Amino acid sequence: MCGIIGITSLPNNLREPIGKVVRRCLERLEYRGYDSVGIAVIKNNYIEVRKGKGKISEVNSRLNFDGVDGTTAMGHTRWATHGKPSDDNSHPHTDCSGTVAVIHNGIISNFLELKEELIKKGHVFKSETDTEIVAHLIEEYLKLGYRPFDAFKAALSKLRGAYAFVVAIAQEPNRLYFARNTSPLVIGIGNGTNFVASDIPAFLEYTNTVIVLRDGEYGYIEPGKVYIERNGVPINIEERIRLISWTPEMASKEGYPHFMLKEIHEQPLAINSTLAGIEEGAFNKVVNAILDSRKILIIGAGTSYHAGLVGDYLLTSMLGLDTHTLISSEYRKYLNAVNDGDTVIAISQSGETIDTLVAVRAFKERGAKIIAISNVIDSAIPRESNYVLYTRAGPEIGVAATKTFTTQLTVLTILALKIGVATGKLTTNEYRSAMDMIGKIPGLLQNVITKTEGKVKALSEHMSKKQSAYYLGRGIGVPLSMEGALKLKEIAYIHAEAYPAGESKHGPIALVEENYPVVFSILDDDNADAMLGNVMEMKARDAYIIGLVPDKYVGKFRELLNVTLEMPSIDYRVAPVIYIVPMQLLAYYTAVARGYDPDKPRNLAKTVTVE
Ligand code: F6R
Repeated sequence: MCGIIGITSLPNNLREPIGKVVRRCLERLEYRGYDSVGIAVIKNNYIEVRKGKGKISEVNSRLNFDGVDGTTAMGHTRWATHGKPSDDNSHPHTDCSGTVAVIHNGIISNFLELKEELIKKGHVFKSETDTEIVAHLIEEYLKLGYRPFDAFKAALSKLRGAYAFVVAIAQEPNRLYFARNTSPLVIGIGNGTNFVASDIPAFLEYTNTVIVLRDGEYGYIEPGKVYIERNGVPINIEERIRLISWTPEMASKEGYPHFMLKEIHEQPLAINSTLAGIEEGAFNKVVNAILDSRKILIIGAGTSYHAGLVGDYLLTSMLGLDTHTLISSEYRKYLNAVNDGDTVIAISQSGETIDTLVAVRAFKERGAKIIAISNVIDSAIPRESNYVLYTRAGPEIGVAATKTFTTQLTVLTILALKIGVATGKLTTNEYRSAMDMIGKIPGLLQNVITKTEGKVKALSEHMSKKQSAYYLGRGIGVPLSMEGALKLKEIAYIHAEAYPAGESKHGPIALVEENYPVVFSILDDDNADAMLGNVMEMKARDAYIIGLVPDKYVGKFRELLNVTLEMPSIDYRVAPVIYIVPMQLLAYYTAVARGYDPDKPRNLAKTVTVE
C-alpha cells in the first residue's frame, strides 16, 4: 500500500540524473499502488516537487522525472486511502514554505485533530490527505527554532497510527529522515549512495546490503552514513546489516510481458530453491513446538489463507491433529480459545500484512507460540514469531501471489510429513517416499506448464467473455479451487466462486445454465468417483466444464468435459502445488485477453499494511 523510495548520493556517484533513478526504483514498487506518483529533489534551499495522478510511465512522460538532477531525492507511488487519486493528493506533500517534503505509507489516525490545530495556527492545506499534516507539523517546530532532527522527532511524537515516512528538509540537502511504525521500511546501504524504501526490490539494482527497520525506529540517511535510533537510544547498525541473496534480475521481467507470467514460470526454480534452503534445525524446532502443543491454529490472508487451508487439511486428515484455520482479520473468534499450550502458524509471504501481524501479536499475548512462514527475511511477522520457516521464492513483484503460494505449500507439506514421522503416523519409509515425491515436484511442474500453457491460452479467449465461474473440488481440492477462483477474480475481474463440489445441490447449481463455466479440480484421491457425479450434474445443465484430471482418469472424464487439462497422477498431498499452475495461467491469459494489466489489478496493492 504505497511505495516509498528515498536516495542520498555523493555528487556524480549515480550514472544518471537522480530523478531517473527514483523513477526506476518506483517502478519496482508499483505493485504497492499505482493511482498517482511523485518525486521531490532537494535543490539550493528549496525542494522541487513533480507529481500527478496516473501510473508512473504516464506521469513521467508528462512531468519528466527522468530529467531532474540532484543528489538527494525521494519518490512515492500511491494507493489512495485518505483523499481520492488526484494531482493534489499525490505525494510528496510540502509545508507552506515548500522547504519540507514528506512521503508516507499508512494511515495517521489522529490527523483531523492535528489538522484543525495547524489551521488555527494559519497553515493552509493543499490536499485532502492525512500525510500533509506531517510537513506542516515539522514546519511548525522549525519555526519554533528546533533543529531539523529535533523538529522531525517532535512531529513524530504527535502522530498516532501506522506509518512509514521519508522526509526531506531543504536546509539539510544531503539528508533524508525516516520513521517506521507498522508500515514496512528498509535501508539499502550502497557505496556513496544510501537508500530507504518500502521494499528491497526498489534498490536491488544498486545494493543488496540491507537493514530491515523495526517498529518504533527512526533516523536518517546521508550518502556515507546511516543513523537509527529508538526511544532516543542509538541502534548498533553493524549488528543489523544483512546481505540479501536476491539479484537484480529477480526483480526484472527478463523478457516476459508481465511479472506474473515470469513468476508463474519461475515456480520450478522457486521450489527448488526452497527445497535447497531447508534448514533441518529450524524444522526440528518447529516440529517439537507442534508436538508440545494442544491445538494448532493457522492464520493468513488471501492466498496465504488458502495455503493455510491446504496445510490444515494435511495436519487434520493425514495426522489427526486438532487444527483450525482462520482468516487473519477474524482472529478475535479464537482469542479466548487459545492459550500457552497452543501453537499458531502465521503464513505471510511479505511478512508485513497488518491483519496477520495484529493477529500474531494478539495470540502471542495469550501465550501461544508463533511459527511464521514467510518469504521475506527479517520482516515483521518472522521477527515477532518464536520460530520461522522461510520460503525461498525470490522477490514476487506481480500483485497476484503465485510462486510464493506454491513454495508455501511445499514448506507446509514437508512440515506435515516431518510431524507425521515424528508422531509415528507415518513410517520412515512412507516419509522417505513422500519426500522423494516432493523432490520431483519442480520437474512435474515444468511439464505441466509446457503441456497446458497453449491450451489454457486458447481457453482464456472463451473465458474472457464470461461474467461468472465456479471452481469446484473436494478434500484438499477445495482450498485449491478457492485459490484458483481468487486468481481469476482479482486480475481478470470475473466473478468466481469456489465451494466443495458436494455443495452444488444445496444451492449454487441454481445459477448454472448453458455454457456457465465450471472448473473442476479432480485429484487422484478417494473423491474421484464422487467428483464424477458432480461433473455429470453440471453436464446435465449444459455447463461449460473445464477439468483438471489426473492422467489415469482421463478416459473416465474426457467425454463429459469441454476442456480436459491432463495432470500427472500424483499423491493428493502434493497435488495442489501442481494443479494450481494451469489455474494461475488461466487467470493470467484471461486478464490479458480482456485488456487488463495482470501485474496491477485495480484497487489492489501487494502488501496490505492497513487493517
Ligand atoms: C492474492 C494475494 C493476496 C495476498 C494477501 C496476503 O493473489 O496476493 O491475497 O495473499 O494479501 O499477503 P501476505 O502473504 O503477504 O501476507
